[in-house]
Amino acid sequence: MGFKSQILKDYPHLTVPAGFKRYGHIMILRHQQVLDEELGHVILQLYSWCKSVYQHHDTEGMSRHPKLRLLAGEDNPFVVYKENGVLYDLDLSRITFSGGNRHLRERLAETVQDGEFLVDMFAAVGNLSMQPLVHREIDAILIEQDPYTFSHLQKTLDLNGKEISVALHLDCREFTQESIADRIFMGYHEIEQTHLRTALQIAKHVAVLHLHPIIHTNSINEGIENYVNQIRGLGATVTDIQNIKVKDYSPKLEHHELILQISK
Ligand SMILES: C[S@@+](CC[C@H](N)C(=O)[O-])C[C@H]1O[C@@H](n2cnc3c(N)ncnc32)[C@H](O)[C@@H]1O
Repeated sequence: MGFKSQILKDYPHLTVPAGFKRYGHIMILRHQQVLDEELGHVILQLYSWCKSVYQHHDTEGMSRHPKLRLLAGEDNPFVVYKENGVLYDLDLSRITFSGGNRHLRERLAETVQDGEFLVDMFAAVGNLSMQPLVHREIDAILIEQDPYTFSHLQKTLDLNGKEISVALHLDCREFTQESIADRIFMGYHEIEQTHLRTALQIAKHVAVLHLHPIIHTNSINEGIENYVNQIRGLGATVTDIQNIKVKDYSPKLEHHELILQISK
């Protein structure tokens, strides 16, 4: 969402990011420089729905914990956020949920087909998999290793009336079932060979993997080939490759979704 032009006109001394993301009463701003707290106070006056203004300045570690700084208003990062008919139970100060993936999430609700068995190896609160789970007739297993994020995943499933779905609190590489999934979501940027090996173990004879690499703008093809070669090296055949750019990640990096049909 773009900012009211009034801010730019009346407060020319303030650095104002191009846009913001709204989650209920919360506004999240992303910017490389430290933003002035005055901007937060101006925003509180102009946007009546906004009670908390945070700057997001980093995301860290295997659990992808966001780093937020309160600019103005209440320090209350808890929200039940509704998007495309799905309720997400979020603590935006400790659970990753990218506003920039909104179109991806909506698309996945359409891509997954009734009757499929879906495994989400990096579920968070079901950021990606809740969409098909709510909008399609599917079976699913959602795996999340972080205990705090997992507790919010359970609440998210309850909120959407999906408590019978299977959520597992473990490192996805410890998942032992074989050849069950038609489709596997791997919504994690730092995929290693151990993750890919588990994905191939979980996949049916023919299945579709959704990978989410961050690729340098100058080497998109090499970035894709890297994953295709790793999968071949693990003994599977890649029979179809679809590459969709999700968003710009930083000036020279892009988030892509690689949709790979494999057979093993
Ligand atoms: C970047 S978040 C992405 C969430 C969602 N898939 C998306 O793309 O919006 C990655 C999540 O995977 C979890 N995670 C990381 N490594 C994992 C592993 N080995 N097994 C299970 N969960 C893992 C993290 O705790 C985090 O909640």
